[in-house]
Amino acid sequence: MKALVYRGPGLKAIEDRPKPEIQKPGDAIVKIEFTTICGTDLHILKGHVATCAPGRILGHEGVGVVDSVGAGVTAFRKGDRVLVSCISSCGKCEDCRRGMYSHCKTGGWILGNEIDGTQAEYVRTPHADTSLYPIPAGADDEALVMLSDILPTGFECGVLNGKVAPGSTVAIVGSGPIGLATLLTAQFYSPAQIIVIDLDDKRLEVARRFGATATINSADGQAAATVKTLTGGRGVDTAIEAVGIPATFSLCQDLVAAGGVIANIGVHGEKVDLHLERLWSHNISITTRLVDTVSTPMLLKTVQSGKIDPTRLITHRFKLGQILDAYDVFGRATETGALKVIIST
Ligand SMILES: NC(=O)c1ccc[n+]([C@@H]2O[C@H](COP(=O)([O-])OP(=O)(O)OC[C@H]3O[C@@H](n4cnc5c(N)ncnc54)[C@H](O)[C@@H]3O)[C@@H](O)[C@H]2O)c1
Ligand SMILES: [Zn+2]
Ligand SMILES: [Zn+2]
Repeated sequence: MKALVYRGPGLKAIEDRPKPEIQKPGDAIVKIEFTTICGTDLHILKGHVATCAPGRILGHEGVGVVDSVGAGVTAFRKGDRVLVSCISSCGKCEDCRRGMYSHCKTGGWILGNEIDGTQAEYVRTPHADTSLYPIPAGADDEALVMLSDILPTGFECGVLNGKVAPGSTVAIVGSGPIGLATLLTAQFYSPAQIIVIDLDDKRLEVARRFGATATINSADGQAAATVKTLTGGRGVDTAIEAVGIPATFSLCQDLVAAGGVIANIGVHGEKVDLHLERLWSHNISITTRLVDTVSTPMLLKTVQSGKIDPTRLITHRFKLGQILDAYDVFGRATETGALKVIIST
């Protein structure tokens, strides 16, 4: 089968690989129909993810059809259409029983990281019963690819952890796919203001179309002052970090109102300063989270009912054979305007 393989920092290739086989009774083999590329795949390609060894097939998002199941799988059978979650979970260990699937003792974020992933014609999914989700008849498969990772990430790490509430004020720093997924799902709770901040005017334009009440290009260093003006001098109840660099976490510390929450989503590769000399008396909370995907079934219903339309995030489409072009377009998002690229097998 064809697969996109990480070959070490800066290197990737399309390779011919053997079709995966069932290794454990809980495994399923899924024939991938649609997959996509995540900003995290770019982090891996830069060599920032130590757990991902050269030779690994990348990808942790996808939709497909069950090709075979191990003897222990009871919830799925050959021919079932399924959504592959970016998080694999056994459902039985202590962390899974707390709903913290991202920390599953024998799972977590392993697909396209510690085991071969979804940017291939087939993928082996461990703990299939509790890591795959059935796709309702008539669903838009491309839309559901957004449910593998970005929608639950924006919703759980940003909206839920950030305690977005009716009438509240929210700032989302970063208008990439994750920031935009956060913007879409924050609107479940009808906050009064959602201010989106980025350096890329094209992405800010998308944020306005997706429901941002205001957008700010922070290139001039005035974003915090502008947010203060927009919020009557208070700052925001929820400041969501959706980039993953020190500058944007720092900005969140300048934006948060007394009593507010800084909800970090970004994957940070370097040390970040925490300004307790100012914030110690500010009654704030700071949250961090690796997406657990506990909200996936709920989000699937909101997509099915048309409450949110994640296909609006799809900007480009490629065949698996053109995945190197897809990486190129996705990697030059500022020039190409790429948000999510759909790759079909
Ligand atoms: N916590 C989790 O479980 C989880 C899951 C998935 C992704 N992530 C992380 O979420 C982050 C966002 O993902 P994405 O795919 O949207 O990334 P992305 O790179 O597509 O988007 C980041 C956005 O930040 C903007 N930006 C960069 N520097 C900025 C600055 N100084 N000020 C304002 N804006 C700036 C960029 O223009 C871009 O639009 C990444 O760090 C990703 O690894 C975390
Ligand atoms: Zn991802
Ligand atoms: Zn577990």
